[in-house]
Amino acid sequence: MTVLLQPFGKPGNPAGNRVLVRGEGVRVYDTDGHAYIDGLGSLWYCQVGHSRSELIEAVNSQMNTLATYNSFAPFVVDVAEQAATRIAEVSPFEDPRVFLCCSGSESIDTALKIARLVPQLKGDGQRQIIARRTRGYHGVNMGGTSLQGIAPNRENWGDLLPHVVEIDPDDIESAARLFAESGDRVAAVLCEPMQGAGGVHPPTDDYLRRLRELCDANGALLIFDEVISGFGRTGSWFASQTYDVTPDLITFAKGVTSGYQPVGGVLVSRVVADVLESDPGYVFRHGYTYSGHPAGAAAVLANIDVIEKEGLVDRANHIGDRMSAGFNALHGDGILSEVRGVGAVWAAKLAEGTTYERSCAIRDTMLDNGVVARPIGDSIAFCPPLVISDEDLDTCVDVMADAITKHPIQ
Ligand SMILES: Cc1ncc(COP(=O)(O)O)c(C=O)c1O
Repeated sequence: MTVLLQPFGKPGNPAGNRVLVRGEGVRVYDTDGHAYIDGLGSLWYCQVGHSRSELIEAVNSQMNTLATYNSFAPFVVDVAEQAATRIAEVSPFEDPRVFLCCSGSESIDTALKIARLVPQLKGDGQRQIIARRTRGYHGVNMGGTSLQGIAPNRENWGDLLPHVVEIDPDDIESAARLFAESGDRVAAVLCEPMQGAGGVHPPTDDYLRRLRELCDANGALLIFDEVISGFGRTGSWFASQTYDVTPDLITFAKGVTSGYQPVGGVLVSRVVADVLESDPGYVFRHGYTYSGHPAGAAAVLANIDVIEKEGLVDRANHIGDRMSAGFNALHGDGILSEVRGVGAVWAAKLAEGTTYERSCAIRDTMLDNGVVARPIGDSIAFCPPLVISDEDLDTCVDVMADAITKHPIQ
């Protein structure tokens, strides 16, 4: 039983939870004292691992100095400004502005609103269409729900946002058709450069570059949702750098604090910031009470410091080499049917014909053997802390391989 209405849980059948009480390094521990290697970095975010004193002390010290204040004009909290500056420094943008909020979903709604705002301010108000890609996951606020490319997540919530169009996630011709039909009405395309929760799908060759070209040719904004891919996960600070394609807006959350505080945000490129800044009398009527919260901002600064000092962005590439080598060996043995990923985020596709139930059974056996991973359809996804040792990485692969053999296809 749980009194919590669990995210993505079954309210009518809340059994079977493992109750977690402690974390240390790449491991979390349950009430029975069982240790688990956190192969998913909690929920795709714990870059620096658990119980890092650098982050805990930074947040603690901030709480002892200025525990809370807002950054609505005419105030700005000093540490919020510092966090925004640090995020801007590691971003692919020259002289961006940084909006801060408390989650990926808030960052998505903010980016969607800005994408509609920009044409409104430019007197181009018929531009309202926002394109989503099939398989995309963009959080669960009304905006993100409307932009979900995972159909079941859109069901039963009543009417969602109008002017949303879905395009194929891999075939750029689908985007080209949308622009050919409605190019002057498209405000933006929302795109995870590497799709995460939809199953870990890196972009097909040239997809992102051609999407950029289509947006440019048609006056639309390109939004990269880097809530998972940001802050080192793909082997660069942002996937935009990994794939060498620069969008107009970048949403981020998760890895920005490694989850130690709930922080998200939007990186606003100069081209968009110029529009917002052109009229000195214009008021940006958007912001959350906790935008730039001091405790969150302190966590951002300490987290970026740790990632930098420990070379964790590069480490993501090493993790990728090692994990993919393990998975590719299983693929060679016919145990996996496909291996997908980039940097330190990977999915192992199980044998053809695998049901979600089989994936879940494999996940459960892995948990029994001390490794957390995520079943997505017919695949098992990994997104470990960037501090994971080679030995623990190998254990993740071995434990998965063992679990697969225990659950043959019926
Ligand atoms: C790509 C992407 N965007 C947005 C979100 C929503 O973030 P949050 O759950 O913090 O609201 C997620 C969450 O997993 C995500 O993966």
